[in-house]
Amino acid sequence: MTKTIAILAGDGIGPEIMAEAVKVLNFLKTSHGLDIALEEGLVGGIAYDVKGHPLPPETLELAKRADAVMLGAVGGVKWEPLDISLRPEKGLLGLRSALNLFANLRPASIYPELADASPLKPEIVSGLDILIVRELTGDIYFGQPRGIRTLENGERQGFNTMVYSESEIERIAHVGFQSAQKRQKKLCSVDKANVLECTEFWREVVIRVGKQYPDVELSHLYVDNAAMQLVRYPKQFDVIVTTNIFGDILSDLASQLTGSIGMLPSASLDANNKGMYEPIHGSAPDIAGKGIANPLATILSVAMMLRFSLNRADLADKIETAVKKVLSDGLRTRDILGSATTTQYKLVNTQEMGAAVLNALQA
Ligand code: NAD
Ligand code: IPM
Ligand code: MN
Repeated sequence: MTKTIAILAGDGIGPEIMAEAVKVLNFLKTSHGLDIALEEGLVGGIAYDVKGHPLPPETLELAKRADAVMLGAVGGVKWEPLDISLRPEKGLLGLRSALNLFANLRPASIYPELADASPLKPEIVSGLDILIVRELTGDIYFGQPRGIRTLENGERQGFNTMVYSESEIERIAHVGFQSAQKRQKKLCSVDKANVLECTEFWREVVIRVGKQYPDVELSHLYVDNAAMQLVRYPKQFDVIVTTNIFGDILSDLASQLTGSIGMLPSASLDANNKGMYEPIHGSAPDIAGKGIANPLATILSVAMMLRFSLNRADLADKIETAVKKVLSDGLRTRDILGSATTTQYKLVNTQEMGAAVLNALQA
């Protein structure tokens, strides 16, 4: 049966990187019999401009109806003055929450070809293969109460609430343990249990859930130490399970271990593996419109979609092999050039990188 894929390109570099991912999908459709129909929708700042809301009802309806969602990126300086409830980011957060996409898988593994693109020494990062399991629908992102208020003394105050209920922690802990079972059987839970009751509770629940997974070695780190360890000796990690906000921060940090944030894909899954797939980076306003963004994180997100939502691991493998091929052929967008010179590598733009992946897929 034909699978519907919602294509939500969003803002900034979103449309530029999504165009390359769509070419890959169309190629798989025509050449490998992948039975899909792509349907475009508006989300983020562009949706606000056209429809007056960052998540218009028709986009939400499309995302719910679709078998999987591909998202580019949202946000930009232009929409910063808007009330927070209408900002582009609310479109993305609204999708995550409405679709119950509580499990965000953010793999940070390095392509050997990119060992010299990381700001860290090659011996620290080569062979790195980490999976960050980020809880995605709870925490301070969604906790109530929240807002900006004026106190009796006239002073203004901003406030948010970090909150996790037991069932929310349990279900993401299961994802963490089960992911570790499929890998090196090591799970590190990251919290701030020494200071925050919310994550003291997180640790308690993770330990309890862990009793069901005696084959997985469970460890715990405070988030400040975890950030430090990720730079000092990242290869000590297999799977990291953590809260929404800590996972957001640690995954951007981890991206630098792999060379560039332009390389990291993600899958956001519900309890039935329905998912939304997006690069972990944002709309990159500083390079938007220049045609130089790295499309590989988005193309690799297509691979994750094929694996998790479309049951086509064979095609996911093909994409990952094609990406490896273009990197070993020496093609580099600016962000993965590292300190190397362009005489060593071929500096390419977004479309050239997308075309090279297509070529490699055809070979
Ligand atoms: P960002 O991830 O957009 O950019 C950070 C830096 O990384 C920039 O220098 C950018 O040029 C670079 N970069 C990002 N993606 C790249 C790519 N594919 N190729 C080459 N370089 C790339 O983060 P930011 O600047 O903090 O945020 C910009 C906007 O994006 C904000 O509005 C923010 O809210 C939004 N944002 C959206 C998402 C999302 O849609 N999932 C994620 C993060 C940030
Ligand atoms: C991400 C982004 C989002 C987040 C923003 C844009 C809402 O930074 O996907 O990592 O904080 O989750
Ligand atoms: Mn982020």
